[in-house]
Amino acid sequence: MIGIYPGSFDPLTNGHLDVIERGAKIFDELVVSILRNSEKTSLFTVDERLDMLRECTAPWPNVKVDSFDGLLVDYARERGARAVLRGIRAVSDYEYELQMAWMNRKLDSALETVFMIPSESYSYLSSRLVREIASLGGNLTGLVPASVDLRLRTRLGVAPLAPK
Ligand code: PNS
Repeated sequence: MIGIYPGSFDPLTNGHLDVIERGAKIFDELVVSILRNSEKTSLFTVDERLDMLRECTAPWPNVKVDSFDGLLVDYARERGARAVLRGIRAVSDYEYELQMAWMNRKLDSALETVFMIPSESYSYLSSRLVREIASLGGNLTGLVPASVDLRLRTRLGVAPLAPK
């Protein structure tokens, strides 16, 4: 059973990795895929985000990394995926996720959406807040992988945090 975990991953957080780890236990193959034609302006290029994903998902041999254009349902069909995986942190995510799941079902009734709940320690974590905290020099320890932290500080020109 192949599952697709789609998203922006700008940047990858420990919350995403928590969902990836859970998904890798459920699916035979989990394809983590970055949307290429997003309307959002991104901090990292797709290639940079692919690199970060590759580095951080190396421990799971059944996790593949990719990017896609166009409709998710078309991409899922091309990859032979039966399900889309999404993480839900809080009730506030639910409405948006439900709308997407219903629309994807309308577009392809054979494709299921599977929701997983990340650890509660990541329930307040988002890529948007990570970008903001990084740009303001805040401490992201435990929220993003160390390699992502370093890339954020390099990209934003913020000095690494001195050890306490
Ligand atoms: O991490 P994000 O930005 O919340 O991910 C959103 C994503 C990539 C899952 C969604 O925008 C998507 O699937 N886009 C592909 C285009 C598409 O199929 N749109 C209709 C979805 S209902």
